[in-house]
Amino acid sequence: MPEQSIEQTLSQLKQQIEAHNYAYYVLDNPTISDPQYDALYRQLIEIEQAHPELVTPDSPSQRVGDQIRGGFKEVRHQVPMLSLDNAFDNDELASFNQRALERLKSAELLADNQLIEYAAEPKMDGLAINLRYEQGVLVQAATRGDGLVGEDVTHNVRTIRCIPLKLRGTDWPEVLEVRGEVFMNKAAFAKINQSQLDKADKVFANPRNAAAGSLRQLDPKITAQRPLSFFCYGWGAISDDWSIPESYTSVIHQLHEWGLPTNPLAKLVAGQPGLVAYYDDLLAQRDGLDYEIDGIVYKVDQIAWQQQLGFTSKFPRWAIARKFPAQEVWTKLLGIDIQVGRTGALTPVARLEPVSVAGVTVSNATLHNLDEIQRKDVRVGDTVIVRRAGDVIPEVVGSVLSLRPDNTELFVMPKACPVCASDVVRELDKAVYRCTGGLFCAAQRKRALEHFVSRKAMDIQGLGDKLINQLVEADLVHHPDDFYGLTLAQISGLERMAEKSAQNVLDAIQDSKQTSFARFIYALGIPEVGEVTAKQLAQHFKTLDALKVADVESLIEVPDVGEIVASHIRDFFQQTHNLEVIDGLLAAGINWPEVASNPPQTDSAFNGKTCVLTGSLEQMTRDEAKQILESLGAKVAGSVSAKTDYLIAGEKAGSKLTKAEQLGVAVLTEAEFIELAGVQNG
Ligand code: IVH
Repeated sequence: MPEQSIEQTLSQLKQQIEAHNYAYYVLDNPTISDPQYDALYRQLIEIEQAHPELVTPDSPSQRVGDQIRGGFKEVRHQVPMLSLDNAFDNDELASFNQRALERLKSAELLADNQLIEYAAEPKMDGLAINLRYEQGVLVQAATRGDGLVGEDVTHNVRTIRCIPLKLRGTDWPEVLEVRGEVFMNKAAFAKINQSQLDKADKVFANPRNAAAGSLRQLDPKITAQRPLSFFCYGWGAISDDWSIPESYTSVIHQLHEWGLPTNPLAKLVAGQPGLVAYYDDLLAQRDGLDYEIDGIVYKVDQIAWQQQLGFTSKFPRWAIARKFPAQEVWTKLLGIDIQVGRTGALTPVARLEPVSVAGVTVSNATLHNLDEIQRKDVRVGDTVIVRRAGDVIPEVVGSVLSLRPDNTELFVMPKACPVCASDVVRELDKAVYRCTGGLFCAAQRKRALEHFVSRKAMDIQGLGDKLINQLVEADLVHHPDDFYGLTLAQISGLERMAEKSAQNVLDAIQDSKQTSFARFIYALGIPEVGEVTAKQLAQHFKTLDALKVADVESLIEVPDVGEIVASHIRDFFQQTHNLEVIDGLLAAGINWPEVASNPPQTDSAFNGKTCVLTGSLEQMTRDEAKQILESLGAKVAGSVSAKTDYLIAGEKAGSKLTKAEQLGVAVLTEAEFIELAGVQNG
């Protein structure tokens, strides 16, 4: 092959690979399969190995370079990287808008009733960087640092696949500095922390720390394994050969055309009502987004107006950050209580000085288990970081070591159950400590009874935790079948129980007798048999008699029942006292209609389809929905692309929903999904 043609091939290959990278990482819309991509990439490597003199810094093969020596170099920013003033409520936002209105009016840039248009976009919770392109090639990437001087992290930023090493198109200015946020999305964060745990390494407190830690690696091979993302939202120095468009939005649009990722949730809004509506809308979407945001940034869209407004000593007057309620706050750890669960597992719970996190007062937070406490080194008396994201139960992230008082003590698990004093044992190979008291332990009994009456089980309304506590303490109820023998006199004899409410409870108990086989199985509280497994067991075995005698081999034929769950089920039905309770329940009159057959699974609308789940579902967890889909022959993917057949969107669906709508992917509500999947409810 003549030299000329190798160069051509190489340049074509580089362009092709970068175009696929752009489609995959920026547009989120892959154009070829992974094996096809790998083949192109291998071809590139082969040619470059044979002709090392042809390797250029913008080649896709050059993303992961060598370790840097002597620490990070300092970079003085040609244009300082400022930060933003904050608004914590709508009044502060209104004053910001008012100040800008007055200045623009007195400069005669704005008519009397004219509203200011703002570019509104999510405030990404990551770290700001400046990317410098010269002749369209990425030559330097630097962190913000103190705003004037940052650190050179070019070697690491090159590994971020959505950041182009070379800009697309040809009409870019000679020098172009692009600014934006490097961040790690939630899924990548969870994965990194899992792998840190597997290696017994330190876990990161939040995605921002993980992103910052990953960018500050001396060895880019480590950064390359940490999936980082980037959205651009500004610029620094730009050479004069490009005349900047009139609006921020048009600049961002142009940067997108040149191959830089921009946030699809950005929107142009007008005046105070527009600012507030965008806030409300984004706050509702927050938990469903696949990355963390800590607020919104509003920027006056007209660049001439921005210039007129100028800067205070610290911030631009043309932009503001409207902060969301904090998801992480500090408070005191007053004590560690032990809760005993339905199956005897002991869970340490942090008792906290009450504090408001993301708008909710929190005074307890789970500590999961002893391993977790030791790993996080949390001690009573510490100032701890508490985090609450969305519907997730508040969690203690760690202690602020610099504020630790003297004489704190390491936490130890009790040797005896705090409720029934039975021995506590540690499960082999597991972090779980369990009370051995079984149904002798009042705590376990109460939890089992609470589970039995719960909404998705027998659904006995009015029988709350407090009443169960009273019934157990008064020795009236030991096992679930005892509920059905209760009398009006017994219930109304309890403290603070009026006859009318007692009668309501009795009626609800009566009503619950008419149920479904699936609910009954779920209500029994067999370890690891959740609602979906219960439904599948009901569907598979059809009758209680068949389920009772099922052996492990036939149990594992049921979708998503593995050996462990199978042995829990078999063990449960081998215990005489469990069979006695079941007999008692049936004798009390509990009954259900015969289980109908499901259509064969290959007939399902989901067979062979690729589905994505987003938002919070009401009737089931996302995991359960995933199990159902998989049992119907569907593949469940993590992100929406042109290949997605269905997006199943629960409440507060965010960017995935927007994306699906843009791509014209069919969107199903939870109810539509349940209907189409043919899941029997109840
Ligand atoms: S604009 C002149 N837009 O927030 C200021 N900043 O508090 C230009 N940030 O240092 C910044 N998302 O790290 C802007 N969409 C966004 C942002 C954003 C996150 C960060 C950025 C900045 C800090 C300011």
